[in-house]
Amino acid sequence: MPENRQSIHGEWGSRWAFILAATGSAVGLGNIWRFPYIVGENGGGAFILVYLACILLVGVPVMMAEILLGRHGRQSPINTMRALPGRYGARPAWQTLGWLGVLAGFLVLSFYSVVAGWALAYVPYSAAGTFTGADTQAVEQFFSQLLASPGQLLLWHTLFMALTAGIVSRGVERGLEKGVQLLMPLLFLLLLVMVGYGMGAGAFTEALAYMFTPDFGALSGKAVLVAMGQAFFSMSIGLGAIMAYGSYLSSRSSVPGNTGLIAGADTIVAILAGLAVFPIVLAAGLDPGSGPGLIFVTLSYGFGQMPAGAFFGTLFFLLVSFAALSSAISIMEPATAYLVETRRWRRPWATTAVAGAAWLVGIGSVLSFNAWSGVKLFGLNFQQIMEYLSTSIMLPLGGLLIAVFAGWVLPAQVTAEELSFPAQWGYRLWRGAIRYLVPAAILVIFINSLGLLG
Ligand code: PFF
Ligand code: NA
Repeated sequence: MPENRQSIHGEWGSRWAFILAATGSAVGLGNIWRFPYIVGENGGGAFILVYLACILLVGVPVMMAEILLGRHGRQSPINTMRALPGRYGARPAWQTLGWLGVLAGFLVLSFYSVVAGWALAYVPYSAAGTFTGADTQAVEQFFSQLLASPGQLLLWHTLFMALTAGIVSRGVERGLEKGVQLLMPLLFLLLLVMVGYGMGAGAFTEALAYMFTPDFGALSGKAVLVAMGQAFFSMSIGLGAIMAYGSYLSSRSSVPGNTGLIAGADTIVAILAGLAVFPIVLAAGLDPGSGPGLIFVTLSYGFGQMPAGAFFGTLFFLLVSFAALSSAISIMEPATAYLVETRRWRRPWATTAVAGAAWLVGIGSVLSFNAWSGVKLFGLNFQQIMEYLSTSIMLPLGGLLIAVFAGWVLPAQVTAEELSFPAQWGYRLWRGAIRYLVPAAILVIFINSLGLLG
């Protein structure tokens, strides 16, 4: 296989290029928008503990497996999963894994872009001082009015998707890398500022108690499934995004070391987002379980109260939009790479097709907040179905298949060489986890969520 394949970022020039791109993929709406709102919906402490366990015991080994599969296959995920089974005497049916990932990517991108559109919309409104001094009611009303307007949502959804497609089609080379390098630390700093604000002006002690005192009795089987799905979603694993990025990774780079950095950064940002949101929620008497609007209402209220809040708010929503962009780009990579590699499409056309299809499905999500809000299946509207199906079902299912393939189909010699753990015991731990712990945990959580395990 050619060692000089071009990624959308150009060839990874260094170990850092991969780490930056993968961190850009991981850190996004999952940390800042989704983590706080599902923590709030699922009651806090116990949920967070299960989430952290899923990251460590399931997410980390699966991320290593995804990177190693990508690097060993050196093609788009679909073609990697077409080539590798034959090489190791497994059935061609394994290629379904690649297609499952592409499908999951479409579903994720379709609603991801709509929510990223909300963040974009909040940039000009924050700058105009809309939230300055506003009370909680006014801030809540602003959010519901935004959701009630399909035209506005469509506009911002379209803008975000066009931005994503524009960047992917141009093959950003070093542009995005530089952006991630500068803007991610800035987002991190700004989150620290907000945590600091929460310490001074919010109900910080209560927030700590809320986030870190587990009450396992209140945790349903379904909540555990949601926590596991969130671990996959947040780490960008289970659909081939990290596999695609891994296919451009130099064979000298240490997979365990890279994984540790990416997973660590991703987890810290999620916890910081929680620490920024919940002190305000609890001090202002807002509802932690209010759903997907949680950060938009809470944080814009907080910005409205803090000194120089219009400035910080504008900067924050800009940085969140950027974080969403660097994630959306990675969601498009598996499908785009496939069209370019196998169908010989030119990159701009491939990008337009992928983004266009996801944009179209996204319109369903736009309408689910207004015109179609009454249209429900199993009590879920269109957007909720997309989110649940992709995040809680398809990503863990992808992870299960990745684990079985990497643990049982690939020979130990191949995985040991690809992973290049610094010590033998590290590899043994990984292999034990990927063969037994990960598949068992995912299966048990799936079955348990159906309420079959008492
Ligand atoms: N990890 C991203 C986030 O936390 O916002 C979302 C995401 C990116 C999910 C890439 C899946 C993916 F393949
Ligand atoms: Na994330």
